[in-house]
Amino acid sequence: MFQLNFTEFTQEEFLRDYWQKKPVLIRQGFKNFEDPISADELAGIACEEQVQSRLIQKTEGKWTAEFGPFESYEHLGENDWSLVIQALDNWSEEAAQMIEPFRFIPHWRLDDLMASFATPNGSVGPHIDLYDTFICQGSGNRRWRVGNNGEHKQFAAHSALLHVESFDPIIDAELSAGDILYIPPGFPHEGVSLNNSMSFSIGFRTNSSVSLFSAFADYMIDNEEGTELIEDPHRKTTKHSGAIDRDDYDLIKQQLLNVLDNDELFRKFTGSYLTQAKHELDLIPNEEPYTDDEIAEILSQTQLKRLGGLRAFYFTETVDDGVCYINGEQVLFNAEIAPAIKLMCDNVCVETDMLAPWCGNQSFIKFIQQQLALGYWYFAE
Ligand code: SIN
Ligand code: CO
Repeated sequence: MFQLNFTEFTQEEFLRDYWQKKPVLIRQGFKNFEDPISADELAGIACEEQVQSRLIQKTEGKWTAEFGPFESYEHLGENDWSLVIQALDNWSEEAAQMIEPFRFIPHWRLDDLMASFATPNGSVGPHIDLYDTFICQGSGNRRWRVGNNGEHKQFAAHSALLHVESFDPIIDAELSAGDILYIPPGFPHEGVSLNNSMSFSIGFRTNSSVSLFSAFADYMIDNEEGTELIEDPHRKTTKHSGAIDRDDYDLIKQQLLNVLDNDELFRKFTGSYLTQAKHELDLIPNEEPYTDDEIAEILSQTQLKRLGGLRAFYFTETVDDGVCYINGEQVLFNAEIAPAIKLMCDNVCVETDMLAPWCGNQSFIKFIQQQLALGYWYFAE
């Protein structure tokens, strides 16, 4: 179990003073930190077809990037390269545990857990992210330089590498196992490995208006929503047929605002959209369904775990009416089991005592049965 050890500030003070405002180095943010996964295991995961991985090298001043899956690493030297794996939380239960201490930030904001292994002088190069990142140093050491936000010229150091021109550091520090560097979006940064080292980044994201509008438009097309036309039965004559007057401009704008104002529609879209998995899930549907009695029995003895990377959220306004969102879909359930569903959305691992009051509830058993069959939740070994 990983636990955050903020000594200079509380989590509330961190959000007030640093979150989305300025970078900060949290020395020993994880005390007695040990890598949840080895470099060899990481290299093995990057050989899998479904995993998104990159190998980044700098040879004689020239940057290159290759995309996985990789078959071998034998052609690589001892220095100057790093292997980066996205969404490690989907592939390693042990590594996914590193996300848990960050639940003081709501997880609709979570992007993924990224891991990297780097050899001496290995780096992904100086760059700017659009995400808030907590870079947690694992074994080995890296030197991190972080510049101030503001105008920075970006350029393609390689077709797959957007770099930033040199910057003056406001943080320049060598990180050791357990140190955490928080970097908000827009601050240029570069980490260079000093020896063979591991690093784990917990990233938080938001969406641009254009991606939200585009996804909302797709959602409306798929669900045949928003098909109403403007109606203007009270139209008056105009002397300027070439003009779009103020009333008409408002009418057109209002047409779109009405769609956004439809909370039932917009919630259904938002819940579905925010629970879509960004990376492939390691789904193993449970083919031999448990009987109701078996589920009740196992639930009373075993933790219930959520599949790594699966997103499950609810809106505070509608969960008590029996609505939640799981993996891109709206899911309806008997409103009386809402407290148990909240537990399953708030915790990736639900302890037996938390679910004990629900083990005899038929609606809850049916809900669990469906989720187990889909491979979205599973019982701990
Ligand atoms: C890395 O771990 O090498 C890169 C992390 C980052 O810069 O966001
Ligand atoms: Co970065």
